Amino acid sequence: MPQIEIRDALPADAEAIRAIYNDAVLNTTAVFDYTPRDVAAQVAWLAAKAEQTLPVLVATDGPGGAVAGYCSYGPFRPWPAYLYTVENAIYIAPDRRGQGIGKLLLARLTGLARTRGLHTMIAGITAENAASLRLHEAQGFTRAGLIRAAGWKFERWLDLVFLQKMLQD
Ligand SMILES: CC(C)(COP(=O)(O)OP(=O)(O)OC[C@H]1O[C@@H](n2cnc3c(N)ncnc32)[C@H](O)[C@@H]1OP(=O)(O)O)[C@@H](O)C(=O)NCCC(=O)NCCS
Repeated sequence: MPQIEIRDALPADAEAIRAIYNDAVLNTTAVFDYTPRDVAAQVAWLAAKAEQTLPVLVATDGPGGAVAGYCSYGPFRPWPAYLYTVENAIYIAPDRRGQGIGKLLLARLTGLARTRGLHTMIAGITAENAASLRLHEAQGFTRAGLIRAAGWKFERWLDLVFLQKMLQD
């Protein structure tokens, strides 16, 4: 298998990102969304990230290879004093999970946030998502709170765990 490469997402990655995200929407409780994204919404999402100089990173199978996963961050909450606080999102293609790709993407994303002067990164993780909890805790995210029954999906309540990583020493 070619070595994984991580790079900034391009507009041409929209379809690959959309497929990965929509799988998570339809088949997992990792995302509290019910409706798959259409092409226009995905293109607009990427454009908005670029406009706000927020990163979207993709992991590919070598240069020019297929997109195996992506990650991003954005504002935690939409008020000015949250300026230095971001919340992340990370998704790996279903057939590529458990191969260390999430680790590579998350390490790159937190490193980027640090060099951009951000202060803390939040992850909101469904309490049953063992893989994501492990991924984040192994990279220094610590638990900051539990919201019971924060979501309703697949006809059941979902608890949400907040974790955070301080980015500056
Ligand atoms: C959660 C997710 C991002 C993790 O990425 P990944 O590439 O599959 O994970 P990695 O292979 O990099 O493994 C990261 C760590 O989690 C562990 N892990 C992976 N899959 C696991 C599982 N199913 N259960 C428990 N731990 C698991 C790995 O052993 C590794 O731990 P280590 O550092 O001790 O070796 C990915 O599985 C995914 O996209 N899932 C669906 C969408 C999702 O849950 N997104 C996150 C929303 S908060």
